[in-house]
Amino acid sequence: MTVRIHSARRADVEQLRSICIRTGDAGADASGKEDAPELLPAIFLEPYLVFAPDCAWVAEDGQGIFGYAVGVADSVAFGKWAERVWWPDLRGTYPEPDTDKAGWHGSDWLRHRLHHPPEALAAPLSRWPAHGHIDLLPRGHGTGVAELLMKRMMHSVWKQGARGIHLGVAASNARALRFYEKLGFEPVEFTPEPETVCVVRALTGEQ
Ligand SMILES: CC(C)(COP(=O)(O)OP(=O)(O)OC[C@H]1O[C@@H](n2cnc3c(N)ncnc32)[C@H](O)[C@@H]1OP(=O)(O)O)[C@@H](O)C(=O)NCCC(=O)NCCS
Repeated sequence: MTVRIHSARRADVEQLRSICIRTGDAGADASGKEDAPELLPAIFLEPYLVFAPDCAWVAEDGQGIFGYAVGVADSVAFGKWAERVWWPDLRGTYPEPDTDKAGWHGSDWLRHRLHHPPEALAAPLSRWPAHGHIDLLPRGHGTGVAELLMKRMMHSVWKQGARGIHLGVAASNARALRFYEKLGFEPVEFTPEPETVCVVRALTGEQ
């Protein structure tokens, strides 16, 4: 089957949302786990498509789109934009859960994150100002397509001026951690979010 890598188009959004949900539990299907699964793409996918469409890449085969990589070159600018444009409507729709984490259930962790996103670019990450996300359905795993998508995305953010990139990875996602290691990412001690590992690498334009 021929695989085509191309820029994300408006018409792709539904398929991309579905992939985001089906890979949203540290790489596994999150559909059954969340009571508001639509918050996964609303937080981790759609703002990237709107803010940085030139850095959003998808992989498609005869069955449809099966993977994507999205990124932003300037996490600080992205954070400011999201505070102004993206989060307000969503915050109106999804109220903040109780501050006591012990009472959280379902998608409360996403509702909380919506109201309290991590700092856009904490000082220990300042050398790696870009960040992004990659998700492929299982039929794309182990095919080399993920590497192609990451390289396209990293080249795009490099073209927009970024000379380093950081990614947050669920600490339990051993496959993703191994994948990033193969791509030259290294873990740093600092992590902006609980239960995640932050991996970083320099960007040279030759990705
Ligand atoms: C993470 C992802 C992009 C990686 O792409 P991929 O094509 O699966 O990656 P690769 O097959 O090139 O590399 C994965 C590596 O992890 C290894 N691996 C697989 N399962 C593993 C496990 N449970 N523990 C440790 N390593 C594991 C593979 O053997 C491979 O290493 P190798 O090439 O040395 O054998 C893809 O699996 C994916 O989209 N997963 C679902 C969504 C996700 O987790 N996204 C990342 C969120 S941060």
